[in-house]
Amino acid sequence: MNDPNGPMYFNGIYHLFYQYNPTGPLFTNQMHWGHSASYDLINWISLDLALAPTDPFDTNSCWSGSATILPGNKLYTGIDSENRQVQNLAVPKDLSDPYLREWVKYTGNPVMDLPEGIQPHNFRDPTTGWLGEDGKWRVIVGSETKDKAGVAFLYHSKDFVSWTKIDSPLYEAAGTGIWECPDFFPVWIDGKKGVETSVMNPSVKHVLKMGLVDQGKDYYLIGNYSSENENYVPENELTLNTSRFDYGKYYASKSFFDPVKERRILIAWVTESDSEADFEVKGWAGLQSFPRSLWLDQNQKQLIQWPIEEIETLHENEEVRFQDKKLENGSLHEVVGITADQADVKISFKLSNLEEAEEWDPSWMDDKQFISIKKDAPNKGKFGPFGLLALASKDLTEQTAVFFRVFRNKGRYVVVMCSDQSRSSTKDGIDKSTYAAFVDIDPEKEEISLRTLIDHSIVESFGGGGKTCITARAHPTLAIGKDARLFVFNDGIESVLISELSAWSLKKAVINVEDH
Ligand code: FRU
Repeated sequence: MNDPNGPMYFNGIYHLFYQYNPTGPLFTNQMHWGHSASYDLINWISLDLALAPTDPFDTNSCWSGSATILPGNKLYTGIDSENRQVQNLAVPKDLSDPYLREWVKYTGNPVMDLPEGIQPHNFRDPTTGWLGEDGKWRVIVGSETKDKAGVAFLYHSKDFVSWTKIDSPLYEAAGTGIWECPDFFPVWIDGKKGVETSVMNPSVKHVLKMGLVDQGKDYYLIGNYSSENENYVPENELTLNTSRFDYGKYYASKSFFDPVKERRILIAWVTESDSEADFEVKGWAGLQSFPRSLWLDQNQKQLIQWPIEEIETLHENEEVRFQDKKLENGSLHEVVGITADQADVKISFKLSNLEEAEEWDPSWMDDKQFISIKKDAPNKGKFGPFGLLALASKDLTEQTAVFFRVFRNKGRYVVVMCSDQSRSSTKDGIDKSTYAAFVDIDPEKEEISLRTLIDHSIVESFGGGGKTCITARAHPTLAIGKDARLFVFNDGIESVLISELSAWSLKKAVINVEDH
């Protein structure tokens, strides 16, 4: 599987569609829409394929798209018989079927044809629609124009069937290449609740998200939007330093508004780190991230993401908990009493004597492999690395290290969060990249928190209460099942205090069982 498609809540049930090859674990030119349903976003029932590439307008694949509840429509990219990307519409066959198992393609497809002057392979991934103040639906579609400009084309429709392309795009940025899986949604300026996609008023800002295929990463902008003059003005420019949802493996994300708990939920495709030969052996490749709630930070400059609260239904044991544990230089402490290969861990670190921290060197962040920040970096710091060793083998040969380092920079502090996969597996042929990102907190005023969800081959980490997220894949050969362990460590020269740690084993969720 790859991209999540058309997530939505309809008549008591959450739906998730996804890019899917039903015949094998590799991407093909016959992508389908797989379909799963859930009552709690945790346990999922597998349903019949929702869309198959059977018609002239999608014979070469049913690619990504979105759902808009009018009720129950969805728009997806088809690749037609001439290999041109076009946007197609499908509706549920029977709205009284709670699972919306069957989908009927509109016979007048495509509803949006390839725009003039656009390459046939550069027009895809329509968003969920939103209603403007004039009562017309809006949708954006990702594309690329001259000089590798990434662009979100804007369309209007009165009936969701006939669509007009608006001359000026919602937004574009030179040199960024095609925008895949764009997303466009409001967030409250003040508060954690989600906002229904069509809401527009002075109390919201709008997030525009785009996947940059060359980077394989999702970026977002925060800005102001008015449907009246179709004007989107982001407060920052799109550069490779723009905010990202996640600094690890996390792509083609898509959000939806959950009316039940009034929240906006984000799901993304997480790729594998092992090889195609491994995919064949496993029989599968690609997974969906754990759903996150998402809202605007109080500083209005970034989004906060946090695992949805339903994860607590998977907590198995009484929490393992300790407080006020000092980690001296070189400390390694095993967190016992939980299943380390499927766990939810929360930690809060308190630092003192911060003025001792060494100077930050900005070039460290430019280095793609983060050699100077990694856990085994030659320049051990005063503060850090300290954090977690997840999916660790007893002798620590294998470990996925999620940690922080703190530096000084021009009278302020720089907090760096890192997920270091270099020792995540003894196996060769695996992508063991390290990921690092800044966490926008002041360690003098607040503790540094880390939440990590571990599930066999995935380690999803949330730093600073969800200000910075890093998703990593690990493919351990030793740290599996009961042989996996979890440690807290501090390799920094100064000691750090764990003011609190809580950890839970996670039960196995029911994933994609057939419905009987
Ligand atoms: C993103 C993407 C989309 C496309 C889909 C095809 O990962 O390339 O742009 O619609 O995957 O599966």
